[in-house]
Amino acid sequence: MSYEIALIPGDGIGQTVVDASRPLLDAAADREDVSLEYTEFDWGSERYLEQGAMMPDDGVDQLRGHDAILLGAVGHPEIPDHVTLRGLMLPIRKRLNQQICKRPSFLYEGVESPLRGYAGGDIDLVVFRENTEGEYADVGGREHQGFDHELAVQSAVFTREGTETVVRAAFEAAKERDGKLTNVTKSNAQAYGMVLWDEVVEELSEEYPSVEVERLLVDAAAMDFIRRPETFDVVVASNLFGDILTDVGAIIAGSMGLAPSANLCVDGDAPSMFEPVHGSAPDIVGEGIANPLATVLSGAMLFDDIGESAVGDRLRRVVRTQLADPDAPRTPDLGGDSGTEAVVADLRNRLGE
Ligand code: NAI
Ligand code: MG
Repeated sequence: MSYEIALIPGDGIGQTVVDASRPLLDAAADREDVSLEYTEFDWGSERYLEQGAMMPDDGVDQLRGHDAILLGAVGHPEIPDHVTLRGLMLPIRKRLNQQICKRPSFLYEGVESPLRGYAGGDIDLVVFRENTEGEYADVGGREHQGFDHELAVQSAVFTREGTETVVRAAFEAAKERDGKLTNVTKSNAQAYGMVLWDEVVEELSEEYPSVEVERLLVDAAAMDFIRRPETFDVVVASNLFGDILTDVGAIIAGSMGLAPSANLCVDGDAPSMFEPVHGSAPDIVGEGIANPLATVLSGAMLFDDIGESAVGDRLRRVVRTQLADPDAPRTPDLGGDSGTEAVVADLRNRLGE
């Protein structure tokens, strides 16, 4: 089978990790008689600096016909982050109705967690983050700019439908995994949106009697991701809380450079988008040391989504065997001294026939 993939390398190390991973994804696909046809889009901050926009006006529509999207990262030190994010990533997520952001966090054998006493497999959780509304809704405004009485209003938006979509996906995942769902909100302080959210979780829980539901406020959840990460299975949270918790989830599993993510359009009308959790990492850009594994693992999730999970499994297997091998090349974020290309070349050697 052949699939059409939209490729948006984006900014900084996004370009490095996407360029390096692409031949590996092709080689893994080839082993299963799958091929990918790419359309590459040079959207991002360079385009913004030259033309005043991160992507063309009809950019989102150009993506629609593809089977999936692979994105590197966006972000540039000379452009405010809200401009880059709102010029590219957020409109794609919203207008392609990618309501769910799925972010697994797994501590691989051979990787050292900054938490003491955790070994391979001890951390194995997945966060389902609401992805198109909540605290990232484009609702609000500014008034009286430049005056002492200047004001800014930023409203969070919670719909029953949006909440149900992500909560149901989380329940389904918990049913297939270890049967535990942790619902993270802040409904003591935010008594409207988050209380609606809690009610939705409560209602849906009746359809999933085999799933145990735990309730945590986000501040306690942040603490417990550090104190007892082994007790989490599936976690569901709003856009902002999921964003924050998944950086914690990434680092306790060893590195930002290992964390993949999927932005899923569940109604199937538009492509889903796969991207590493990390950003454009201006502090290491151009050094050739960005860890490509988060992008490779995002690619594995892409293959699962298009119905080619044999390719996804193959990619996860080579990543797992590489990380477990103390003599394999690794990038500095994992304590090694190898570069991006060496890591990918080693993965290709491990692919087998
Ligand atoms: P970041 O994720 O880019 O970097 C955080 C730290 O992790 C840095 O020390 C970086 O060197 C390290 N790191 C990240 N990815 C790595 C990799 N693959 N290999 C090795 N080390 C890695 O987050 P930061 O520094 O807060 O943001 C930088 C820019 O990226 C900003 O403009 C921000 O807005 C943007 N950003 C974009 C995201 C996206 O495109 N999804 C997500 C997060 C930030
Ligand atoms: Mg984030």
